[in-house]
Amino acid sequence: MSQLHVINHPMIQHKLTIMRKKETGSKDFRQLLNEISLLMGYEVLRDLPLEDIQIETPICKMTGKEISGRKLAIIPILRAGLGMVDGLHTLVPVAKVGHIGLYRNEETHKPVVYYCKLPEDIQKRLVIVTDPMLATGGSSCDAIAMLKERGCNNIRLMCLVGAPEGIEKVQAEHPDVDIYVAAVDDHLNADAYIVPGLGDAGDRIFGTK
Ligand code: PRP
Ligand code: URA
Repeated sequence: MSQLHVINHPMIQHKLTIMRKKETGSKDFRQLLNEISLLMGYEVLRDLPLEDIQIETPICKMTGKEISGRKLAIIPILRAGLGMVDGLHTLVPVAKVGHIGLYRNEETHKPVVYYCKLPEDIQKRLVIVTDPMLATGGSSCDAIAMLKERGCNNIRLMCLVGAPEGIEKVQAEHPDVDIYVAAVDDHLNADAYIVPGLGDAGDRIFGTK
């Protein structure tokens, strides 16, 4: 069973509350999402393996630690997932970035694929899928399935706000994928928007509405 990690550090909760406010504009929304992504990334990557490395400080030789194991790939689900890339990239500047384009059909609420471009060696990497909103879970589940079809077997899902419905769906369809969220909200409304949520994340990031 996949684990649900709710990262409820006070700094993250404070910033998320500002993002939720309807009067918060795109510039601040983007900036806060960027900051929260960096803070969440710290927890998402907490268990990265380390190995010993011999180095020399100006004073003496010593055994230091460096990150070993798989290299990282960040895979934002377009569009809104793009808002979480810079924060993770600040932590791991050498991570490669792939893009999966999905939008929700407004009537069926089902995801429709329109783009997929991934690093060539994606199956060898630890993959962090980013999307601020986990609503019905359809988009995240389809994106994860596309990655698995291409051989990925080490995938984590990093979202900002999750609805119980979406979390359950990902756990049922992808029990091997751990989910990281800053908050679990109450429910979905009739339009499959998260309540209380923060509205349409893509529109708020890019100022399209
Ligand atoms: C939003 C959001 C997720 C998806 C979540 O994207 O960014 O990708 O909906 O909903 P789900 O869990 O029910 O699938 P949207 O389709 O609005 O596209 P956008 O990011 O381009 O605005
Ligand atoms: N997509 C969003 O951007 N927000 C929601 O609440 C649900 C889906």
